[in-house]
Amino acid sequence: MPDLLDLLARTKPYDFIGSWPRLAARSPFMAQCRRTPGGFLPLEMIYDNQPIGDTLIQRLADRYYLNGALCRGARVRLQQATHWLRQQIEDRLSRQESVSVLSLASGGARDVIAAVAGASWADRVQYLGVDIDPEAVKYAHERALAAGLNGQFRFELGNALRPPRAWENRFDIVTSLGLFDYLRDSTAVRLLDRIHALLRPGGTLLFGMVTSNPNQRFFEDYMNWKMIYRPPERILELARASKFARVGPVSGRDDYFFLVECQRL
Ligand SMILES: C[S@@+](CC[C@H](N)C(=O)[O-])C[C@H]1O[C@@H](n2cnc3c(N)ncnc32)[C@H](O)[C@@H]1O
Repeated sequence: MPDLLDLLARTKPYDFIGSWPRLAARSPFMAQCRRTPGGFLPLEMIYDNQPIGDTLIQRLADRYYLNGALCRGARVRLQQATHWLRQQIEDRLSRQESVSVLSLASGGARDVIAAVAGASWADRVQYLGVDIDPEAVKYAHERALAAGLNGQFRFELGNALRPPRAWENRFDIVTSLGLFDYLRDSTAVRLLDRIHALLRPGGTLLFGMVTSNPNQRFFEDYMNWKMIYRPPERILELARASKFARVGPVSGRDDYFFLVECQRL
């Protein structure tokens, strides 16, 4: 039997409930987006993809917004990043004893936890997640512990735009999703150069940027969630303007988020 909420969501609640601000006002997910646009909690709710709330209308409203284009795109991005990370780690572990991974703006660290938890080689991965939000640091740490990732997974409070010099030449893999969407071109290229210095020779960065959003005005007007939208070609140009010599796409062009892999030679 089809899920009742899915069935109701397909009946386009806009049509019979009224204008979108009224529907959005019923959605606990939307309320969280308005409280912390760009924060880790809306992303966690998007990944969970579970309507919450006490009433049918709240759940229906959540289902409607969780089905939106950018939410679907964020879930695709998570899958792509998880797959990429697992492959990168396995490939490196076939050649070296251990792998060190850094996430800048790690949020709930879903991608790396999903990539590593339960793997036979999990204890050969050293991970550091850095986030500017203490709630995100606490939340990700608890999630890693719950997934059985103990001592080798660490989380630190910090500004990803200013990684300490002591971290230079220390990491095999760096990832950053949900941070570059807010950076101007010049800041983005400067950060790419800083990450280049954090990687060991042969190390790889995975970063993502948002490309488009059919509901951009709604995001900006209703949630005050402002991102910088760039076409994939521009994102590749920025990556090529940095110190990285080898740059290439990981995701498709129509996924709303564009993932790019950059290798330090
Ligand atoms: C949209 S969330 C993305 C989280 C995670 N990377 C993901 O893809 O699910 C953005 C995260 O970036 C963090 N953040 C924003 N600016 C930051 C900065 N300058 N340094 C470190 N973290 C930052 C926020 O606290 C938040 O957890």
